[in-house]
Amino acid sequence: MPPVISVEGLTRKFGQLTAVDNISFQVEEKTIFGFLGPNGAGKTTTISILCTLLNPTSGKAMVNGHDCKKDPRLVRSSIGVVFQDSTLDKDLTAYENLVFHAYIYGVHKKEIKNRVEDALRFMGLFERKHDLVKKFSGGMKRRLEVARGLIHRPKVLFMDEPTLGLDPQSRSHLWEAISELPKEHGVTVFMTTHYMDEAEVCDGLAIIDGGRIIARGSPEDLKRSLGGDVIFLKTKDNRAAGLKIKEILGIVPEENEDELFLTSGRAEEQIPAIIKALPDMVLSVRFQRPTLNDVFLKFTGREIRRQDVTGQDSLKEDLRAYVRRH
Ligand SMILES: Nc1ncnc2c1ncn2[C@@H]1O[C@H](COP(=O)(O)OP(=O)(O)O)[C@@H](O)[C@H]1O
Ligand SMILES: [Mg+2]
Repeated sequence: MPPVISVEGLTRKFGQLTAVDNISFQVEEKTIFGFLGPNGAGKTTTISILCTLLNPTSGKAMVNGHDCKKDPRLVRSSIGVVFQDSTLDKDLTAYENLVFHAYIYGVHKKEIKNRVEDALRFMGLFERKHDLVKKFSGGMKRRLEVARGLIHRPKVLFMDEPTLGLDPQSRSHLWEAISELPKEHGVTVFMTTHYMDEAEVCDGLAIIDGGRIIARGSPEDLKRSLGGDVIFLKTKDNRAAGLKIKEILGIVPEENEDELFLTSGRAEEQIPAIIKALPDMVLSVRFQRPTLNDVFLKFTGREIRRQDVTGQDSLKEDLRAYVRRH
């Protein structure tokens, strides 16, 4: 199965500034791929290129087998885009908004009702289908945008910080639906985020900073690359326990106050082995698994902070610039 998105040496400059700097990655079909990075990292610029709103300065981007630069029309007909700021018509009902979209995309008349209702049901908005969008909360509008993005059966759905600005409950509601998209709708999801918990459930991740991809892999792989879990152990005799652990795992534990600690591979495999090798000696045991925050910290030397992120919808800005150019 060829990758659905394939990016090779992609670069985008704005004057002197290199917003996207020679990045390469691939996204497999029916997976959720996350672009994780702080404000100004180049996430929106990359998405804009993949959605054909922006041309790359150099390098190549292919979506669904089509070249974003040479065949933008073919790319566009095979993707859906969810903007941060609502692009819905607030004076139409939810149902009318989706029917309008179905017309634009040339969905067969006989199919429109079914598709629209399916999408509304999937996003948990069926009961509210005849309400005007202006009565919707921010979370409902965002869900309606995702529903709309599905109407023409795109192969890839692009979302730029889809849950930005939503309260925690709307965020988890939306996120539940997003995580079902590959399985339920056969869609590949490409999204950007600065939320670690969202990045956590992506199948594949690229961490981007200063226009460059600095780490890539599944969340598990990235965390494992830090050297594994840290196990903390209190025993009746730390010296004897330390020697025994060295014998069975080949790792010399360090001691801090009255606690031994060691960085091992997977704690769920090592802890039973340690307890078995130290009968009646272990008083307490706990472990810490590295988080994506630790990964980000290791590769960038800093944390993603909330204030790094603005609510500004630059994807929409790119759309406006695109319209001005054409
Ligand atoms: N149209 C533009 N003109 C000039 N600079 C831009 C433009 N769009 C983005 N940039 C700059 O490119 C860099 C990357 O921006 P962006 O892709 O929006 O990052 P992110 O989405 O990760 O926050 C930033 O320094 C931003 O100021
Ligand atoms: Mg952005």
